[in-house]
Amino acid sequence: MKNYRLTLTLLTLPFFSRLALSFTVIMSDSGVPSTLVDGPQTGFSMKQDGARTDTRQQEAVYDIMRATGNDWATDIPDVCRGRWHGIECMPDENNVYHVVSLSFGALSDDTAFPTCDPTRSYISHSITKLPHLKTLFFYRCFSYNPQRIPAFLGQLGPTLQTLVLRENGHVGPIPNELGNLTRLEVLDLHNNNLNGSIPLSLNRITGLKSLDLSGNKLTGPVPNLVFPSLNVLDLSQNLLSGPIPPTLGAYLSLIKLDFSRNHLTGPIPEKTNGLKDLMLMDMSYNHLSGPFPKSLKTLTSLQALILKGNPMGPTIPNDQFQGMTGLMILILSNMNLHGPIPESLSKLPNLRVVHLDGNSLNGSIPKSFKNLKNLSELRLNDNGLSGPVPLSREMVWRMKRKLGLYNNSGLCFDENSVDSTFSFGIGLCEEEGSSSSSGSRTVQHFSMNGEKYVTTTSSTMNNVSSDGVLVAVTRWLGLSAFVLFAFAFIPL
Ligand SMILES: *[C@@H]1O[C@H](CO)[C@@H](O)[C@H](O)[C@H]1NC(C)=O
Ligand SMILES: *[C@@H]1O[C@H](CO)[C@@H](O)[C@H](O)[C@H]1NC(C)=O
Ligand SMILES: *[C@@H]1O[C@H](CO)[C@@H](O)[C@H](O)[C@H]1NC(C)=O
Ligand SMILES: *[C@@H]1O[C@H](CO)[C@@H](O)[C@H](O)[C@H]1NC(C)=O
Ligand SMILES: *[C@@H]1O[C@H](CO)[C@@H](O)[C@H](O)[C@H]1NC(C)=O
Repeated sequence: MKNYRLTLTLLTLPFFSRLALSFTVIMSDSGVPSTLVDGPQTGFSMKQDGARTDTRQQEAVYDIMRATGNDWATDIPDVCRGRWHGIECMPDENNVYHVVSLSFGALSDDTAFPTCDPTRSYISHSITKLPHLKTLFFYRCFSYNPQRIPAFLGQLGPTLQTLVLRENGHVGPIPNELGNLTRLEVLDLHNNNLNGSIPLSLNRITGLKSLDLSGNKLTGPVPNLVFPSLNVLDLSQNLLSGPIPPTLGAYLSLIKLDFSRNHLTGPIPEKTNGLKDLMLMDMSYNHLSGPFPKSLKTLTSLQALILKGNPMGPTIPNDQFQGMTGLMILILSNMNLHGPIPESLSKLPNLRVVHLDGNSLNGSIPKSFKNLKNLSELRLNDNGLSGPVPLSREMVWRMKRKLGLYNNSGLCFDENSVDSTFSFGIGLCEEEGSSSSSGSRTVQHFSMNGEKYVTTTSSTMNNVSSDGVLVAVTRWLGLSAFVLFAFAFIPL
């Protein structure tokens, strides 16, 4: 939970702080520019005496607050001077304040926006009476009062830049009207119960920087949309089907791409070589087929490639990873891969996590794997690998139970690379003759449950709890936090 909140905060804060810097002119609903001076101000920072909130907007804020169970706000004589987080206002040249941002929901322990009464809250139509609104944020607001996303939000098109409706329990389709929010930069509908397909009208939002529709029940294809400024595209955990559209290659600013846990089919499009800034690609748990696109090689910024659970075999080209010099995390488990482990993998100096388990890889582990000094997790279990494990004693010791080697046809340890083979489910390489040549080794097979191990249990292994899944999840959260963190510091 904590980890999750961290991620969310990292995602959200940059947009708020960026908004704080970028305000100068806001178009009013009549199309006449009204110059607002200063940056937006919360009730806390409001200083100027004599300024008053626009009365029509004040009434609208009362309505919106009442609709979320925050009736206390209606006692506040001037909402822009009301001392609560979650409202931001800006003065115009006549010292009249306009509401530019409204936020609801307990985002984290130290970001206390007004909470909603989840049993009876709704989004008041009066939101359309806030003609300067740039940010609208509802988090966990309507969970026990399931409702659609109101179509009237489309009327905020002239000004709205950030729309976040996260974990709100929204049902029904994404309204076509959201395509009228042509100034939107952030659209986040994560973790609701939205169904139907992704509306094509979203293609009108040409300046979109972040689109997160993850964790819903969306069906139909991934539409052929082009968002040239998009940094984050997250459609994970839906019921989307059909192929990955070829237009993906035109998302030239993409940093994070997550299509995981859908029903997507066909290959990853070949034309991904324009994605020069892409740091995370997660296509795991779909039904994607091979071959591996050659153009993946050109993704020099890529730090994490996660394709787990797609039957993309049979082979990985030997030079597949050449050029992906930034790669830190590679997850290719259960992909029906055959043949050898590509040599080019061991030329990636930053590799930390490599999962190739649950395939049919054969041959030996490339000797050059011993040069992967940053490796902290290596899963090769459940394959057909054989020969000696070419890792130094230090690497084996450091990885401990994050080194998965069991259930291979003939992997073994050199005597000098381990203190105890107990935890790995493989044995020591058997020396044949006095001067062993690496070509002719056989393997002693040990059983994990063999009595032998009961007597040789080393103290470091007492806490083995086979929590591979937990490790993976922790990695996962750590990774998304990392990628989002990096994203937070990219000047937008
Ligand atoms: C908004 O979008 C809908 C459907 O996409 C359209 O019918 C409507 O005319 C648009 N304009 C406004 C102001 O809502
Ligand atoms: C969406 O879900 C609602 C029930 O919440 C259902 O009535 C409706 O038919 C569904 N629509 C689609 C397109 O699946
Ligand atoms: C390990 O990673 C660090 C930081 O990414 C990098 O500077 C270093 O060169 C890597 N180590 C090796 C042995 O390549
Ligand atoms: C690996 O398996 C392939 C068939 O998938 C076979 O042709 C090849 O000879 C095997 N290589 C080794 C080293 O066992
Ligand atoms: C061992 O690995 C193979 C190949 O991935 C797999 O098919 C098999 O089920 C595994 N055996 C056990 C006991 O897990």
